[in-house]
Amino acid sequence: MAFTAKLLLLGSGELGREFTISAKRLGCEVIACDSYAGAPAMQVADASEVFSMLDGDRLRAAIRRHRPDFVVPEVEAIRTEVLAELEAEGVAIVPSARATVMTMNRDGIRDVAADALGLRTSRYRYAESLDAVQAAAGEIGLPLVIKPVMSSSGKGQSLVRDAEGLAAAWDHAVSAMRGDRRRVILEEFIDFDYEITLLTIRTRTGVLFCPPIGHRQERGDYQESWQPAAMSPAAIAAAEAMARTVVDDLGGYGLFGVEFFVHGEEVIFSELSPRPHDTGMVTLISQSLSEFDLHARAILGLPIPAIAQRGPSASAVILADRASDTLRYAGLAEALAVPGGEVDVRLFGKPSARPSRRMGVALARAESIEAARRLAAEAAGRIRIHYGDAAVAGTDGDA
Ligand SMILES: Nc1ncnc2c1ncn2[C@@H]1O[C@H](COP(=O)(O)OP(=O)(O)O)[C@@H](O)[C@H]1O
Ligand SMILES: [Mg+2]
Repeated sequence: MAFTAKLLLLGSGELGREFTISAKRLGCEVIACDSYAGAPAMQVADASEVFSMLDGDRLRAAIRRHRPDFVVPEVEAIRTEVLAELEAEGVAIVPSARATVMTMNRDGIRDVAADALGLRTSRYRYAESLDAVQAAAGEIGLPLVIKPVMSSSGKGQSLVRDAEGLAAAWDHAVSAMRGDRRRVILEEFIDFDYEITLLTIRTRTGVLFCPPIGHRQERGDYQESWQPAAMSPAAIAAAEAMARTVVDDLGGYGLFGVEFFVHGEEVIFSELSPRPHDTGMVTLISQSLSEFDLHARAILGLPIPAIAQRGPSASAVILADRASDTLRYAGLAEALAVPGGEVDVRLFGKPSARPSRRMGVALARAESIEAARRLAAEAAGRIRIHYGDAAVAGTDGDA
């Protein structure tokens, strides 16, 4: 068979699945890797491999064996030292090994953004013990947010309002910590008006931006997103300038999801993903080229002459509410029949559920952001997950 390029995808969730579809449309061969079989991207890839992305030996062996044109990380938790080692031997890591190393842990990217590049961030300190947490809290002030340096999707994260809450927040962070470092970041709580993701594409011919994506998070995990987010031209310009600075520093080609908090006209850098962003799933309906198409084009060095925004759009997540290995979906017809705009649904086909696991997303485009958000939420709410032959999650209980 003839392919444009061979891609080794590290992490095979829903973002990887959409990326795989985009890459395959451009004629790529995709080998999808993850720690469990049947992961979303594996369902559409040419081949798959099951191993932990944190297992350096298995990771190195997979890259050596497949000899991909590009290694495309889809998750943060990867043995990134191995990516750096192989990049030095000439393997192309997307966007760059430096970007994956610096964003694997929160302290890496925070040090780059705040210290090295001088971007405005929340005040922050690191701590490796409860004593150090208490001392750091004294310097930052309350309220503050505590997060493990290595975690994602809000895991181990707490908002601390009073000094009595510090011990519980430390314990919570330690219990949810991924990896081997007992280290947390304490961040000043930013009472932002709204927060955005600025999809930023670094290409061989320059840096491009998508219109800002607004989003709402609960327990540190995204619930809904919309595009375009209402934002003043000055605030957009400030965010774009910061995003450009940080992606130019991290280097390589691809799409980045750069997160900002906005308070009045002040734009505060939060963190970034050197890859498509979960809140960017809205671009599956809002743009002519989705964030996955854009990532694929930037990686392959293909032109991106224009990114058309098609109108007010929104996404709303479909979450599981319990653990189960036997799943079935209902309500798809009802979801797709929501009137008032264009509605679509993606079900990720994950082989098992657990509480709050993201199983799908509803997408909508309508006359206004409010209408699009209402439609997406309505469609998401109409999808029901049947767990085994037992009860039904969601609305009406018609098993
Ligand atoms: N310093 C902060 N002030 C206010 N809200 C915060 C702060 N840090 C995080 N949050 C909230 O928690 C969400 C998740 O935090 P984030 O640092 O982006 O972690 P993750 O890597 O899990 O996405 C943010 O999108 C924001 O809503
Ligand atoms: Mg985030």
